[in-house]
Amino acid sequence: MKILMVCLGNICRSPLAEGILKTKVEKNRLNWIVDSAGTSSQHSGEQPDSRSIAIAEKYGIDITDQRSRQFKTRDFSEFDLILVMDASNFRNVVNLARDEEDIKKVKLIMNLAEPDQNNEVPDPYWNDNGFEQVYQMLDKACEALLLKY
Ligand code: 4NP
Repeated sequence: MKILMVCLGNICRSPLAEGILKTKVEKNRLNWIVDSAGTSSQHSGEQPDSRSIAIAEKYGIDITDQRSRQFKTRDFSEFDLILVMDASNFRNVVNLARDEEDIKKVKLIMNLAEPDQNNEVPDPYWNDNGFEQVYQMLDKACEALLLKY
């Protein structure tokens, strides 16, 4: 399994999702590849947001080695599953799809834990208090992913 986590900036939500899933994958000794990207290039090359680093650290996860990168069309070829945080990420990624096969790989991450609800992981960039909620949501989704595959 090769899984790509995608948000807008690849500095808040998807780096956390990558860190959470990688930790679970290691614990379960699975041979999965996990990465993350942003639909925007605005923060390319940057470390995750300090608030994401802090909330990950609170739960024993180190995401400081991650660097933001932009989602590219070739990611459709390299990954089996592309998990997006919200409807806007979904539109941005699907707009780059080459065919139906590509589109089928794109899923709203919370639908793993809360099927068919189309719940979104809120953008915490402008809300210092949003990071705990984002962590809990992503942890729930990643746990559901492990059970599913
Ligand atoms: P992310 O959060 O998509 O979870 O990484 C954001 C990061 C940066 C911005 C917006 C959202 N920004 O507007 O710069």
